[in-house]
Amino acid sequence: MFTKDTLTGKNILVTGGGSGLGKAMALKFAELGANVAICGRSQDKLDKTAEELKAFGNKVATYSVDVRDYEAVGEMFDKLSEELGEINGLVNNAAGNFLSASEDLSPNAFNSVVGIVLNGTFNCTQQFGKRLIDAGSPGSVINIVTTYTETGSAFVLPSACAKAGVLAMTNSLAYEWGEYNIRLNSIAPGPFPTKGAWSRLMPDPKVEERYKALIPLKRYGEHVELANLAAFLMSDLSAYMTGENVVIDGGERLKSGQFNFITQAAPRSQLKKMFQMMKPGGK
Ligand code: COA
Repeated sequence: MFTKDTLTGKNILVTGGGSGLGKAMALKFAELGANVAICGRSQDKLDKTAEELKAFGNKVATYSVDVRDYEAVGEMFDKLSEELGEINGLVNNAAGNFLSASEDLSPNAFNSVVGIVLNGTFNCTQQFGKRLIDAGSPGSVINIVTTYTETGSAFVLPSACAKAGVLAMTNSLAYEWGEYNIRLNSIAPGPFPTKGAWSRLMPDPKVEERYKALIPLKRYGEHVELANLAAFLMSDLSAYMTGENVVIDGGERLKSGQFNFITQAAPRSQLKKMFQMMKPGGK
């Protein structure tokens, strides 16, 4: 579906693009012809990733910023536009998360995560959108959310609250900015291991094994699988999509189905024998 110029003419900023899934998306965008900017708090990380991005031969820029700082985010968009041209693609990927019992959270811990995820996404999206609206240019935003935006989740309360807000922001602006041809979609990734996320969110290997068993496809996602979806949503191939949330999780979100637990009770061959015996007249 993609060609090497699928994203030619796009100047895309990926927040938190120095590592993990942000880096995977940035690399895919560059491979498909985009000029790519990455921002984050660690200039070292950004510099290393920038070297890899340059291999594709398009323009590359980095910017060290904390997305919680509205004014600094505005300065970043001005600077990056000088370097790459008008920024017309944005991926709000920068995030913060950790496991904690909610009764143990300090107000500052809650504010830190909400500040990065919800306020950070507002800061970047509004600074991005208002420049495009002034210029009369179209644009595309992808917000990285989670599969627990609707259900909530134990032990990640600040993230659950913030990501639910980001989903509301996506839908609100998709409607409001539709007339400017600024599209906003979100991606809800399931388990895509990264060093940053796994060190904060996966307590130990035994828990991890139990978790993997609950994923229908019995494996984690490959970073490139998420990057391909992001490239599609960023590109004109999805020009009529806005306000959509696409889940990519190997079916993991379906694990609460009432009888799904039976898959864990015994191997399939044994289950089939049990089902046979439960049939009227079965043995
Ligand atoms: N459990 C409980 N509280 C924690 C915590 C944890 N694992 N990690 C940090 N906090 C608390 C700190 O104690 C502090 O609260 P306090 O001042 O009341 O003590 C507060 O959170 C802010 O921590 P600090 O490290 O000063 O903030 P920061 O803004 O630099 O960091 C975080 C933000 C906490 C989200 C940090 O984990 C981070 O930078 N994450 C970015 C990367 C990331 O999370 N990636 C995974 C994405 S899935």
